[in-house]
Amino acid sequence: MGLNKSMGCTIPCLIFLAASLLHVHVHSDDDSLGEGFINIDCGLPDGSSYLDEKIGLNYTSDDGYIDTGENHNISAEYNAHELLRSSLNLRSFPNGGRNCYTLSPATAGLKYLVRATFMHGNYDGKERDLIRSPLVFDVYMGLHFWDRIYVNSSTTIYVAEAIIVAAVSSVSVCLIDIGRGTPFLSSMEMRKMKSSLYPAAMHNQSIALQERHSLGASSLVRYPDDPYDRLWWPSQGTSGWLNLSTTSEIKRYSTDPFEVPVRVLQTAVTSPTTSTPLNLSWEVPSGWPAMVLPGYYLNMYYTDFQEQRLRAFDVYYNGYLWVPNNLSITPNYLFSDYSNATAPFTDNSGFYNVRIIATNTSVLPPMLNAYEINYLIQHDDTATDTQDVEAMMNIKTEYQVEKNWMGDPCLPEKYTWIGLTCKSDGVTSRVKTLDMSNSGLQGVISEQFSLLKSLQHL
Ligand SMILES: *[C@@H]1O[C@H](CO)[C@@H](O)[C@H](O)[C@H]1NC(C)=O
Ligand SMILES: *[C@@H]1O[C@H](CO)[C@@H](O)[C@H](O)[C@H]1NC(C)=O
Ligand SMILES: *[C@@H]1O[C@H](CO)[C@@H](O)[C@H](O)[C@H]1NC(C)=O
Ligand SMILES: *[C@@H]1O[C@H](CO)[C@@H](O)[C@H](O)[C@H]1NC(C)=O
Ligand SMILES: *[C@@H]1O[C@H](CO)[C@@H](O)[C@H](O)[C@H]1NC(C)=O
Ligand SMILES: *[C@@H]1O[C@H](CO)[C@@H](O)[C@H](O)[C@H]1NC(C)=O
Ligand SMILES: *[C@@H]1O[C@H](CO)[C@@H](O)[C@H](O)[C@H]1NC(C)=O
Ligand SMILES: *[C@@H]1O[C@H](CO)[C@@H](O)[C@H](O)[C@H]1NC(C)=O
Ligand SMILES: *[C@@H]1O[C@H](CO)[C@@H](O)[C@H](O)[C@H]1NC(C)=O
Repeated sequence: MGLNKSMGCTIPCLIFLAASLLHVHVHSDDDSLGEGFINIDCGLPDGSSYLDEKIGLNYTSDDGYIDTGENHNISAEYNAHELLRSSLNLRSFPNGGRNCYTLSPATAGLKYLVRATFMHGNYDGKERDLIRSPLVFDVYMGLHFWDRIYVNSSTTIYVAEAIIVAAVSSVSVCLIDIGRGTPFLSSMEMRKMKSSLYPAAMHNQSIALQERHSLGASSLVRYPDDPYDRLWWPSQGTSGWLNLSTTSEIKRYSTDPFEVPVRVLQTAVTSPTTSTPLNLSWEVPSGWPAMVLPGYYLNMYYTDFQEQRLRAFDVYYNGYLWVPNNLSITPNYLFSDYSNATAPFTDNSGFYNVRIIATNTSVLPPMLNAYEINYLIQHDDTATDTQDVEAMMNIKTEYQVEKNWMGDPCLPEKYTWIGLTCKSDGVTSRVKTLDMSNSGLQGVISEQFSLLKSLQHL
């Protein structure tokens, strides 16, 4: 899988300070709201849909996106716990080691936020003791390990989220059974993003979310406050932190690569005195596969609400001063500002700590409005030819083949589609033979077949 390749930095790589670099072009929100969204409520009866009034988005059943699995409702006693309407039902996958959703339409080369949510809710009525024996399964973004879902509570909504660049006109998300319980999921969502956002997500690598917090906020911020429907969770009220907020408008550059929603920037936390640091810490999630030590990208967002007195601070990341040329950070007044990692950082200890410390000239204590911790999803060096993937997806749709046709047609080899053989030159796999004999193939032969350039036998 190439997962142990040495990547990124041995110390946290330099941060960028947005403030002074660019000319001011204040943003305008020209995206049409909710356009390019796919909202799937997994396990909803086939063909049904509803409007989630809390967020104003339509959710549909998943029958157009997957052919396998079983629909279930969560147990009635958990209905009251539900925070998201889409958690009331789910699809589970007792059969098959790998089951995949095909999210389409997408546009090859464009950037998307993809999110899956998981809430168990005792759907099988077995009253499992999840604390003693958690359910564990993996989620893959196409061919690449994305997240490990560790279910130790019936009422927690677990979330896997990634930002990706689509390689073909659909995005496949696969659940992998690792022998520790039946995989399931409650919802799948895909949102088109501006290509300039999150530069770390590129054609050859994706990023996945570990944490995203709006500090000083008292409730979840998402769509429509965030036109990309990122979930900004409120802070946990860490002791010693003080909340700040403003109702003033906050501006940003049109080239801002993160476009943090104004509502998120309108709240912040600060420490009580200049001599008290603000600190954050996180660790590699428990039960994480040892081969996939995450490389973290840290983004911190700040906007000051006062302009008279100096607020300046330094950031230490696992003990390293994290600022180029010893320049301290002085957050912009009512203007979006950020620090971002330029490369992923891995510490073998698995523990990460950030301390934000006022400089000795600062009159005000340090502050932070929001932060995100993403990790790198490395892409394998091997892939299936994108034209072959495209053609096979189209053939599957055109002939309504149900077999085991899901995910990538050729890779991993263990899951090559039934009726296909593929050949690989070590890097690129191509479809070599295709047997449609049990598919009721009749009538016109699709022109898609001619796109399979290595096809030797049909
Ligand atoms: C949700 O879908 C229904 C039926 O397709 C449609 O009438 C309604 O306008 C949609 N609502 C939104 C908010 O898109
Ligand atoms: C879930 O509940 C809804 C109504 O509450 C029902 O229509 C649906 O058939 C149930 N689904 C399953 C899989 O039992
Ligand atoms: C579930 O696991 C997480 C991560 O290991 C842990 O923080 C949490 O306390 C556990 N919850 C329960 C109910 O055991
Ligand atoms: C700050 O806000 C959070 C979220 O609403 C709350 O839990 C916390 O108690 C607040 N802290 C203080 C010091 O008021
Ligand atoms: C975080 O900051 C508090 C003071 O605000 C300090 O007591 C604590 O030791 C710090 N924790 C770490 C891990 O640096
Ligand atoms: C930053 O400051 C430290 C200590 O004051 C000094 O050793 C180091 O050379 C400085 N680095 C730069 C790039 O100025
Ligand atoms: C960090 O931000 C700068 C702009 O300030 C951008 O050029 C760079 O690509 C970003 N890097 C990452 C990994 O987000
Ligand atoms: C502030 O810190 C700098 C560098 O750490 C030091 O050179 C300077 O003397 C300090 N100033 C005061 C007033 O303590
Ligand atoms: C992806 O390509 C960029 C340059 O285009 C490079 O900096 C980065 O390291 C590559 N990522 C991987 C995982 O190879």
